[in-house]
Amino acid sequence: MTTALASLTDCIRPNLEAVERLFHSELQSDLACVNTLVKHVSRFRGKMLRPCLVLLAGKACGELTDAHNVVATVVEMVHMATLVHDDVLDEAELRRKGATINHLRGNEAAVLLGDYLISHSYHLCSSLDSQYASRLIGKTTNEVCEGELLQIDNRNNLDLGEETYVQIITRKTAVLTATCCALGARFAGADEARVSRLELFGLSLGQAFQIQDDILDLIGDVSTVGKTLGSDIEKGKMTLPMIHFLRTAPPEHRTLLRSLLSSADSDKVEKIRNLILPSKSIAYASQKARQLVDRAQNAIADLPDGEARRALDTMAEFCVTRPM
Ligand code: IPE
Ligand code: IPE
Ligand code: MG
Ligand code: MG
Repeated sequence: MTTALASLTDCIRPNLEAVERLFHSELQSDLACVNTLVKHVSRFRGKMLRPCLVLLAGKACGELTDAHNVVATVVEMVHMATLVHDDVLDEAELRRKGATINHLRGNEAAVLLGDYLISHSYHLCSSLDSQYASRLIGKTTNEVCEGELLQIDNRNNLDLGEETYVQIITRKTAVLTATCCALGARFAGADEARVSRLELFGLSLGQAFQIQDDILDLIGDVSTVGKTLGSDIEKGKMTLPMIHFLRTAPPEHRTLLRSLLSSADSDKVEKIRNLILPSKSIAYASQKARQLVDRAQNAIADLPDGEARRALDTMAEFCVTRPM
């Protein structure tokens, strides 16, 4: 847990500690070589956003149970599986301020470790004896894969429209945060209407989160963000600031961006950053993210006021103000 979120999570502290323990005990193997790999990923903790969403959504809707801890562990395993595979696809060397598995141990070990994590998430989820949870987690990971596939299908597509971009970020990132909130609410006994509100909260938050992530990939500070940046450009992923720039910048600037994006220039990330920074395209993307945060906050406005509801509100805010 990073200090930025620490104060938000006081009311779920014992649960987060239980999640941490469960995460480690579930991934434990009798094979030393497996444990060594698992240790690489579990040494560097991330923001724990998804477990926090499960637990805070649960707390905001009712009482937390052991099932919440299990669900929170499952979603962190799913998330980490996607990160380990994503770093292979992106050829990233840095994650959570440490070396990536692919960088340390190669792509083969990283692909298999990602598989190990996703397999463990399903194995643990099935211990809940809840067909609802198992089906929803499965449906969510199906959609995450679809999002990633749609993304590579649009690699180097300089004409990518905003609608398809939103499709990509919704599937690859936002469906998981939506599921976190829906399951948190559902396991606290919330009715269908409330589960849907929480799901919309998580979906909008996730969309805003990925837009901010894409902004950080372009203009973030690597020592703060703690992961390889600039890889969206390197990997031909069109993100919102670039999409907006190609639609609105003066024609000669558009032409320059198009030629930089298609070039093999080793400084192209730097050059693209310098081209886009003075334009209105970063502000446009930030404003889109802001609107999504408003939508998220509106979705939970009718929940009873309390520490957990307020923490969800602040967490939505954090998604667009975060420097990491
Ligand atoms: C990174 O997610 C992947 C995206 C969906 C952008 P996080 O920024 O939540 O990663 P960790 O868990 O804190 O490392
Ligand atoms: C998020 O996309 C990918 C997943 C949902 C796994 P990114 O490629 O932007 O994630 P980061 O920036 O590497 O964390
Ligand atoms: Mg990546
Ligand atoms: Mg990114």
